[in-house]
Amino acid sequence: MSVFGDVPLAPPVAVFKLSADFREDGHPQKVNLGVGAYRTDDCQPWVLPVVKKVERLIVEDAGLNHEYLPILGLPEFRSASSKVALGDGSAAIKDGRVGGVQALGGTGALRIGAEFLRRWYNGVNNTATPVYVSAPTWENHNSVFADAGFKDIRPYHYWDAAKRGLDLAGLLDDLEKAPEHSVFVLHACAHNPTGTDPTREEWKQISEIMKRRSLFVFFDSAYQGFASGDLDKDAWAIRYFVSEGFELFIAQSFSKNFGLYNERVGYLTVVARDSENLSRTLSQMEKIVRTTWSNPPSQGARIVSKTLNCPELFAEWKSNVKTMADRVLLMRDQLKAKLQALGTPGTWDHITQQIGMFSFTGLNPKQVEYMIAEKHVYLMASGRINMCGLTTSNIDYIAQSIHDAVTKVQ
Ligand SMILES: Cc1ncc(COP(=O)(O)O)c(C=O)c1O
Repeated sequence: MSVFGDVPLAPPVAVFKLSADFREDGHPQKVNLGVGAYRTDDCQPWVLPVVKKVERLIVEDAGLNHEYLPILGLPEFRSASSKVALGDGSAAIKDGRVGGVQALGGTGALRIGAEFLRRWYNGVNNTATPVYVSAPTWENHNSVFADAGFKDIRPYHYWDAAKRGLDLAGLLDDLEKAPEHSVFVLHACAHNPTGTDPTREEWKQISEIMKRRSLFVFFDSAYQGFASGDLDKDAWAIRYFVSEGFELFIAQSFSKNFGLYNERVGYLTVVARDSENLSRTLSQMEKIVRTTWSNPPSQGARIVSKTLNCPELFAEWKSNVKTMADRVLLMRDQLKAKLQALGTPGTWDHITQQIGMFSFTGLNPKQVEYMIAEKHVYLMASGRINMCGLTTSNIDYIAQSIHDAVTKVQ
């Protein structure tokens, strides 16, 4: 009898299972629209040219070594990360009330933030503070906060399936009704999975209620630059909330906008009332990191910080990010045009209205099943597709597959 005999088999993580099924599929026209990673028009992963360049600089740099980094991370990476989120002239940075923690990807940043909030926010070890995540959301949000110990994780209204857009009234109503001091996880831009963000006017309404009702803002920023091709535009909501005086967290991921998925580069930016509150907060975060991964890895952080801290490399990075964003925008235009040309029932304006990596097609679970089984086009059960999986050579096939799914399967 094994000591592991009573361990139940956990279900696989949907998006990784989808990729495994895709790999086993021998069909010549198979397409993977599941996993959230950029692909070139040849359907290949892309190492950003600026990343390749900086990797060479790192190899050649005799001054670098593999000593441990400080627990909170590489100093020049930390300051550059906050600056890219909050902007060059950020008053909060000048006031010395912004700091943070280098983390293992955006996920690590969320986890350190969640762990800190459970330990120290709204009382000590208050596992009853409600944590609100959008309905729907990136599926890991629920588990990250649950594993950090929060017992009351609730959905807030976000997606209006009938109008294929934001359910603003539902969202504002949830903000009004949430118990004071609840935590709200907000997608900073390019909402995953719906690709639907509030407008600036809508963000202002959200901010007004959150301030009045003392709700905690936890931004998840996994797609800065990827949404519009413009880093500043994509950080507008974050900067607006900071200008409104919120103390808040921002979980930043450099996985998508640097194409550094497996290097696990993320950062938790903390904006506090003043430097004194910031120091105590960071001192507790240091304790959490010490027992979690002790201190972070350097390679990805070096790549990001060397890029962000050098004007020429920074300009090159922005152009690389724009290349990715523009390709996605082009695929959106073309997919919509092709569906319209095929006369596919329904409106397809949402394909171009949504932004970022994903599109929430509106295909129902049966239509998704059909797409996978009959067409070998792999997508999430929610109907979410990764727009980066579309290319000049497969877009006709994908449009026809969607058309067939919509017309043959109800
Ligand atoms: C909304 C959202 N948050 C966080 C993450 C996590 O990013 P990372 O891979 O850097 O942990 C993702 C990745 O897909 C995401 O979509």
